[in-house]
Amino acid sequence: RLLIIDFGSQVTQLIARRLRELNVYCEIHPYQNVTAGFIREMSPKAVILSGGPDSVTREGSPRAPQELFEMGLPILGICYGQQVMMTQLGGMVESGHGTAEFGRAYVTQKGEHIDLLRGWFLEGNEQVWMSHGDHVSQLAPGFEVYGTSPNAPFAITADMSRHFYAVQFHPEVHHTPNGKTLYENFVKIAGFAGDWTMGAYREEMIRKIREQVGDKKVICALSGGVDSSVAAILIHEAIGEQLTCVFVDHGLLRKNEAAEVVGMFREHYNLPLIHADESDLFLGELEGVSDPETKRKIIGKLFIDVFQKHADTIEGAEFLAQGTLYPDVIESVSFSGGPSVTIKSHHNVGGLPEKMGLKLVEPLRELFKDEVRALGHELGLPASFIGRHPFPGPGLAIRCPGEITREKLNILREADAIYIDQIRKHGLYDEIWQAFVAILPVRTVGVMGDGRTYDYACALRAVTSVDGMTADYYPFSHEFLGETATRIINEVKGINRCTYDITSKPPGTIEWE
Ligand code: XMP
Repeated sequence: RLLIIDFGSQVTQLIARRLRELNVYCEIHPYQNVTAGFIREMSPKAVILSGGPDSVTREGSPRAPQELFEMGLPILGICYGQQVMMTQLGGMVESGHGTAEFGRAYVTQKGEHIDLLRGWFLEGNEQVWMSHGDHVSQLAPGFEVYGTSPNAPFAITADMSRHFYAVQFHPEVHHTPNGKTLYENFVKIAGFAGDWTMGAYREEMIRKIREQVGDKKVICALSGGVDSSVAAILIHEAIGEQLTCVFVDHGLLRKNEAAEVVGMFREHYNLPLIHADESDLFLGELEGVSDPETKRKIIGKLFIDVFQKHADTIEGAEFLAQGTLYPDVIESVSFSGGPSVTIKSHHNVGGLPEKMGLKLVEPLRELFKDEVRALGHELGLPASFIGRHPFPGPGLAIRCPGEITREKLNILREADAIYIDQIRKHGLYDEIWQAFVAILPVRTVGVMGDGRTYDYACALRAVTSVDGMTADYYPFSHEFLGETATRIINEVKGINRCTYDITSKPPGTIEWE
């Protein structure tokens, strides 16, 4: 295993992600917890010192245990970690003097070629991402320079005899395009076989969940989405019947969805599951409401009430399980305002743990979405389930602009099912980020057979996106659109007109409300 000592950088988790991509198992530990004894006990094969916001020139700023440098382990220091290394090994670091550097920079090779840089200087100079206020002004004894940039003469340095490497930039971020190569070389130098897998991660997580929960009980709000599902299955593997899931059915789900989710978890996974069918309550409270934010607030509040009511029936529950992902952790720290906060406040059952005095179990906190999918695959979830499009917490309520009625919801469900069926049949599902039908609050005139109709119009929506923050409409062929519209109008009683929404985000949003 590899130990990452975290000095508080925003991007430490990205280091872990790069290493997992290289099939190397690593653990991140905050510097406060890492003593020499801790390292000896963990006995890692190599150590990475992360970046961090502090300045090593400040008295009392974070350090690594001095003995670390006498353990004979390969060490890679990144940014603040580089400066920690230099300071602790007898070099010098200076603050300020206009040498702060943020953003893109180019590093060129200096001196001889070393293993850490195999395949690195392909273009003569390499683009990297710098973000530092301090800089190394004098190298520690034994270190040589192997790469420089105009503002960072010591961009890449190493003490080859001890396998100590130090870089000023952040190889883990996207803006250092070839950064993975550095990690790859470092783990090879450290002797990692690169044979760690998601299966090993699963075992590790199961061990950690057991350690955290002990013999206590855990409750989980299962939404039927990928994240909460993977979290629930993993926790169930770890602690079995100590877990109870509550599936809050607000009556705003898609066609057959509740039955499918409940069926899969109860029958296939044998998971203790409460199906809280509260559609009457939700639809009752939503009657006559047409403002989108009011709808969201009502649903969010009821959701918490209902969840709490059912959770109260489970005696002695001390933990709440959540499928929080790493990007959620980051966003909730660095965003204030913005749509993502609102999204999460519903999605992750915001406020519940404090209100109910529960501790959190969040086994996916270190993972990115694609890694959660890989873990879901590992846990035996069907590919069609893992690849499902995102579905908003308030469900069909925000796909039914204006007032919500049972009649409209039923029409919407039928149309949506046909649309998704069409998309799957044409093999387009995986190319699309999200696709759905919205039922519009207008009736339009049509003619079918010899009769006049006066029915609802609907809008088809399909977008491509990387993260849901920006999106473009999906360029369906005219044939596809024509065929789909015909099917919906012929097969769904209550719809006589079909439109395709060609708005990008921004200026539109993905959902209609
Ligand atoms: P918008 O419509 O804001 O959607 O472009 C971006 C992504 O967020 C989802 N979304 C929500 N998810 N509660 C949720 O859990 C909400 O209130 C909500 N509103 C939008 C939307 O489906 C898309 O994936």
